[in-house]
Amino acid sequence: MKATMTLDKEFKIGEIDDRIYGSFIEHLGRAVYGGIYEPDHPEADEQGFRQDVIELVKQLKVPLVRYPGGNFVSGYNWEDGVGPVAERPRRLDLAWRTTETNEIGTNEFMDWAKKVNAEVNMAVNLGTRGIDAARNLVEYCNHTSGSYWSDLRIKHGYKEPHKIKTWCLGNEMDGPWQIGHRTADEYGRIAAETAKAMKWVDPSIELVACGSSNRLMPTFAEWEATVLEHTYDHVEFISLHTYYGNRDEDLANYLAQSLDMDQFIYSVISIADYIKAKKRSKKTINLSFDEWNVWFHSNEADKKIEPWSVAPPQLEDIYTFEDALLVGSMLISLLKRADRVKIACLAQLVNVIAPIMTENGGQAWTQTIFYPYMHASVFGRGVALHALVSSPKYDSKDFTDVPYLDTVSVYNEESETVTIFAVNKHQTDVLSLDADVRSFEGYRVVEHIILEHDEVKATNQHNRTNVVPHNNGDAKVDGGKLEANLPKLSWNVIRLAK
Ligand code: AHR
Repeated sequence: MKATMTLDKEFKIGEIDDRIYGSFIEHLGRAVYGGIYEPDHPEADEQGFRQDVIELVKQLKVPLVRYPGGNFVSGYNWEDGVGPVAERPRRLDLAWRTTETNEIGTNEFMDWAKKVNAEVNMAVNLGTRGIDAARNLVEYCNHTSGSYWSDLRIKHGYKEPHKIKTWCLGNEMDGPWQIGHRTADEYGRIAAETAKAMKWVDPSIELVACGSSNRLMPTFAEWEATVLEHTYDHVEFISLHTYYGNRDEDLANYLAQSLDMDQFIYSVISIADYIKAKKRSKKTINLSFDEWNVWFHSNEADKKIEPWSVAPPQLEDIYTFEDALLVGSMLISLLKRADRVKIACLAQLVNVIAPIMTENGGQAWTQTIFYPYMHASVFGRGVALHALVSSPKYDSKDFTDVPYLDTVSVYNEESETVTIFAVNKHQTDVLSLDADVRSFEGYRVVEHIILEHDEVKATNQHNRTNVVPHNNGDAKVDGGKLEANLPKLSWNVIRLAK
């Protein structure tokens, strides 16, 4: 099977915002307690944070972490999580039917984020709370001093403001499962008013309004339009969330789901631009795809969790090799619209539908999906390039014309490097790729990394890292032509440098 492509440094999609490689930590399951924080663990630092986990997060070069939820945030009193730990209340978390101890709160999480070199994308509660709690949190975090909330932060031991730039106005407010679920008009109004107050406290912040929880929501499209009618002048982003799963054991159809993600992105761009036209606005609203991943393996196990337990194993999907391929394709989908998708968060980061897993008291280890995410984050900084691709295609149960070759390239002018990310979705055939790279004169192949496996259901476990990339790919450049064989069902990273 053959595919061709032409790559040119002038075919620019757009500058990639580093925040496209963001992730997410929610107070849910063992993400915080037993994940990033385990004071009795031999690897715990002086604050109780697991250093083995910190090291793995650093390998991913995560630039931004969304916090503290998720569904959790819609019932969260942020004030419960600041000040002396011994005085913090234990609360029922209605979103996940567990008990929240509040040992970790805003300040500790900001400390952890610093340790992993990440910024925080802070969500405010627009479920049970509203304008007042949100503006107070901005004042607590970002105001220097001389006011009630900023002085309280100083009293709590944090002299310097946290300077949090990116904020989410609630979470999935279109979903009936959300505490304080609202109609689009109700949410749009409260989001606009909250945004105004938050920006009056700190005009430098950027705000994300809630879009739909997924493309299948009955209110999808109308929700975005109505919310943006209310919030257009007060926010910078509209959010998107999506999770996929191979529930029908139909691999061809499963791998095609990145086309659904493409369609979702194009639709939300169109809706945002429709409201822009309606308002005759000069401002463009960008996209924050702040929850995306595969999520289905743990659905059954989660029905058996004892209610009101503290940090039970929840949403602990163990990812297969085929999941890593779809995650690779989803990263490609995000990069193909890097002109408008400026924030994205792989949901989530540790233990909960996560690339990093831990055992309580034991090891930290990497899931299959760790690798495409790491490759994109480490090598995918610069300008996304549109490639002219000609690939054989297939039809599946829900999709037609699915290209076997899924690809996007990233050019970094400063370091004079080009990285081609590519997935071969064919289940039996090698795909031989011929690419015209004459525009990159003097560039050679540095390495061709491949993630492949004979068993599509192969997983990694705490004591067995089975699915790992190798760099024995055969990509080569000769006379302005790149040739590479992409094995059947593989994730490829072809790195060129001058
Ligand atoms: O990421 C897990 C959950 O998925 C989040 O809490 C929620 O926002 C979404 O439904």
